[in-house]
Amino acid sequence: MGKRRYELARPGLAADPGLAERVATGTLPLLVARPELERRAALAQLTAGPTVELPAERVAVWQGDAFQLADRLPDGSVDLILTDPPWGGAALDVWPRLGQLAARVLAPAGVAIVYVGHLHLPVALGGLAAGGLDWWWAATIAFHGAHPAVRARRVRTRWRPVAILRQPGSRSETPWFVDLFVTDPKPEKRFHAWGQSLGSARSLIERFSLPRQLVFDPFTGAGTFGVAAIETGRRFLGIERDPPTAEIARSRIARALAEWEEPADAG
Ligand SMILES: C[S@@+](CC[C@H](N)C(=O)[O-])C[C@H]1O[C@@H](n2cnc3c(N)ncnc32)[C@H](O)[C@@H]1O
Repeated sequence: MGKRRYELARPGLAADPGLAERVATGTLPLLVARPELERRAALAQLTAGPTVELPAERVAVWQGDAFQLADRLPDGSVDLILTDPPWGGAALDVWPRLGQLAARVLAPAGVAIVYVGHLHLPVALGGLAAGGLDWWWAATIAFHGAHPAVRARRVRTRWRPVAILRQPGSRSETPWFVDLFVTDPKPEKRFHAWGQSLGSARSLIERFSLPRQLVFDPFTGAGTFGVAAIETGRRFLGIERDPPTAEIARSRIARALAEWEEPADAG
């Protein structure tokens, strides 16, 4: 039985004998091992080659606590907050703190877009608005083909809510938008267990900010929103508490920067 499992796993597992052994002995299901191998291969590829310095005038990822480090940001200096905070559990006070931070750092026409899990909507929406931002709308991020299970509610969900808030008084500058954004076909979990889709992040950034404006993600994770910001010609500031994850974010963003080309009409 173990040998058969190993044979099945062998093509993908050759690079990692330890993992292969765990599959062969049945302590790690093949279904779990495959994505783990994909993840390791993607990380190895990402970190191969020389370390690239991020140009500070264009992009930075600070490692540390978002609420402490964000003190360095001047009032009204951010055009768009796009973020996906940790949901629930010990992180419940994240919502009012994020609401206050956003109200302070957003420019007068600034927008905050926050990914929120369905289970946390009642607490999250109240907390976010407590900082003084105006509630604007809830948009949908539709999952392209995937139906993740929310066991606590016996639901297979096909969409994620995103809360949109604005500085009070900026109504006239609100762009028109269709409130449905769609993920990439395959969920991107290779760099972070909670990695979000790049395509829908790009669409949100394009709709709610302008080229060269500053996009801020205080819960950067593996830097998906930083990559999206660079790919759409914006500046980006991220904060991530976990040191290895912050390093992954820097590497992904550096790679995006190396591939990004300034549009021909840029001044
Ligand atoms: C849901 S994940 C973000 C995933 C990200 N959108 C991506 O696509 O990779 C939230 C991240 O916030 C980080 N985090 C949690 N609390 C934090 C804090 N107080 N300051 C900075 N980062 C924090 C976690 O380490 C985690 O990586």
